[in-house]
Amino acid sequence: MEVLQTSALPLGYVAAPISNPDSKIPSMTQDFRDAMAKLAAGIVVVSARTPEGFRALTASTLVSVSAEPPLVLVGLEHESLTRAAVVETRQFNVSVLTRAQEFLAERFAGRAPGVDPRWKDVPHHLGANGIPLIDDCAAWLECDVTQVHSAGDHDVCIGEVRVARAGKGNPLILWDRNFWTLR
Ligand SMILES: Cc1cc2nc3c(=O)[nH]c(=O)nc-3n(C[C@H](O)[C@H](O)[C@H](O)COP(=O)(O)O)c2cc1C
Repeated sequence: MEVLQTSALPLGYVAAPISNPDSKIPSMTQDFRDAMAKLAAGIVVVSARTPEGFRALTASTLVSVSAEPPLVLVGLEHESLTRAAVVETRQFNVSVLTRAQEFLAERFAGRAPGVDPRWKDVPHHLGANGIPLIDDCAAWLECDVTQVHSAGDHDVCIGEVRVARAGKGNPLILWDRNFWTLR
């Protein structure tokens, strides 16, 4: 198996720019970011319903927690509009992105043209819960929120998985502030 770098773009989530003496970021925070940049993570899009339509963000914090019952957790920033929608509606969906979907990861992270509330130009289908799932992903989950824990500047949202499906394609991976994939 080979690992391929897909992007030369520096990514800022947890992994912020290398420290410099003028930085206002405390050194522990910078050390933490530098260390966590070495933890490889799958990239997903977490989607939720809003009164206007749908809201979604790119996330690297999805973790499997329990098999029986099937539980996942995702860390959502307090400021995030998607977090507000997830906590309000108590539901979210997860689309596990593939290598071919790097541009969607940029869009749902607010680093490329945004997505309208009806997802008109994003190929998708609706889950059984009516929340969108991106087409042609590596996997999909539909979740009901069972617990929300405030933790620092994020909420840890625990979701009970109601529907889980595996798809195809090589995963999109965040490591060392870049996107990578496997071949
Ligand atoms: C690679 C990557 C991973 C990210 N992971 C997370 C995450 O796990 N949780 C989170 O709240 N934001 C994460 N973000 C940031 C959100 O995608 C970004 O702040 C987004 O614009 C929030 O949109 P919203 O306010 O519409 O919810 C990540 C961004 C990138 C580029």
